[in-house]
This record gives sequence, structure tokens and C-alpha cells, in this order.
Amino acid sequence: MIKTPIGIFDSGYGGLTVLKEIKAALPDHDYIYLGDNARAPYGPLDYDTVYHYTLQCVKWFFGQGCTLVILACNTASAKALRTIQQNDLPYLDPPKKVLGVIRPTSEVINGFTQTKHIGIVATAGTVESHSYPLEIEKLYPGISVTQEACPEWVELVEAGKQLSSEADGPVKAHISQLLAKDGKIDALLLACTHYPLLMNKIKEFTPPGIAVIEQGKIVAQSLVSYLQRHPEVDELCSRSGHTAFFTTGDEADFNNHASLFFGETVQAAQIKL
Ligand code: DGL
Repeated sequence: MIKTPIGIFDSGYGGLTVLKEIKAALPDHDYIYLGDNARAPYGPLDYDTVYHYTLQCVKWFFGQGCTLVILACNTASAKALRTIQQNDLPYLDPPKKVLGVIRPTSEVINGFTQTKHIGIVATAGTVESHSYPLEIEKLYPGISVTQEACPEWVELVEAGKQLSSEADGPVKAHISQLLAKDGKIDALLLACTHYPLLMNKIKEFTPPGIAVIEQGKIVAQSLVSYLQRHPEVDELCSRSGHTAFFTTGDEADFNNHASLFFGETVQAAQIKL
């Protein structure tokens, strides 16, 4: 039986915030990370383009032998996951799995709010897909969900400006706009995997008493439970504690940013799709 790494995908650097937590939860597994940095941000792109780009990346992972791929990107999960699961995966032999981040996050969201009013900050693509309000409504009909698209935030992170004073204006403005729409919000979900990289700024402009929720640990716990429930998938995963990094963008840029975000040295290779 050939065993292969788990694929972790994001449009850029954001998925590293998820990979970090997955590695902490499952340190012995092997991983391949791909950031489609050359084409990020995905947030403003239409459904067809996000689907086409995501499918291209998913096929690349399959070409590397991966059996299981995690879309550590809300925009790709919102705009491409279902179509890939329904239209593309059924025709693959042997079967492959692709999982996203929206369902596992929605499943646990109830535990973070007392007021049952949740605020969601995300890319324009995730917001306009209505994936979170629909998913949360199905699971917890009593929870009120208010969304705010923050188009500049991913660009700030991709440009490495997450600590710069340039980030202050856009972070402050979107949090204030969200809270003006619903003053009862007591939990703020960062529904974009890039946003934890702006955490210092987000906390600075979020009033105390509002919990700021990151997805990394939630997705990692959900993967642990998925692999326990699907030992047939887990036994196809290789285990030597190794992670390989790939980017469609510039390797040197990726290495500089990723090492900073990831807390360890990263040596990425560039791929062309
Ligand atoms: N990290 C992606 C997400 O979770 C960012 C999307 C983008 O490239 O705009 O949605």
C-alpha cells in the first residue's frame, strides 16, 4: 500500500495558520502545502474562476499522490468545494477526499456565544456565497449571523503588511461597521485563514468582551476526528513528520513570509500550473 502526505491548500499564506495547528495535533503525519500566491487573492474572483483555480490545485495534489486534501481556504471552500465533491471526485479512481473549513467551523460555533449573535469577517467571495449563514442556520436555527466583507485584509497579509500602521484603518473600519450592524455580537469569527495573521490589530480594535475565534485549532480537531472515523483514509497517510512547501509565486518571497508566519524555516519550491 502506497502512503502519501495530506495536502493542505490555500490561495496564499493563510492556510499556514491551519497547517500549524494540524501539525501540532498530528505531528507524525506528512504534509504538502500549496499556496497559489501568484493568483491570490481569490476573494474578489467569481465562482467559475475560484472553482477552476481550486480544481487545478487539487489535481496537482492528486498528481503528487495525495489521497486527502484540505482546502484551508474559506473562499475555495465556499465557491469550489461542493462542485469538486459532486462533479469531479466521483469520477476518480481510486477515490480521493477533499474537505473544507466551513462545515467544521459551523459545527462548533454555538460554543463561543452567549448572546447567540455572531459576527463573521471574511472575503467578499465567502460573504456573498452565504455559506456560513446557511450552514449555521441549518445547525443552530436560533443563532443570528451578521457578515462583513473585508476586501483589503488578505491583500495586506499577502503584501507582508500585517504589522504595519497601514493595516490600522481597514481593520478598525470593518470591525466598527460589523458591530454597528449588530450590537449584540459577542463572538467574532475570523472566517478567512489569512486573518489570524492580523490578530494583533484585530484584537486592538475589537471591544473587550467579544471573543475572537480563529479556525486553525477547530479545523485541526475536526481532522483528528475525521481520521479516527475513517481509518481507511488514515492508513493511506504517510508518517515521517515531514512537510514540503510549494507556491505558484516567488519562492524567496514565500520563504520569507512563511517562515515568519510559521515560526520555522521554510524552503518552498515554485510550481507552474
Ligand atoms: N485564506 C483565504 C480564505 O480563507 C483567503 C482568500 C483570498 O485569497 O482572498 O478565504
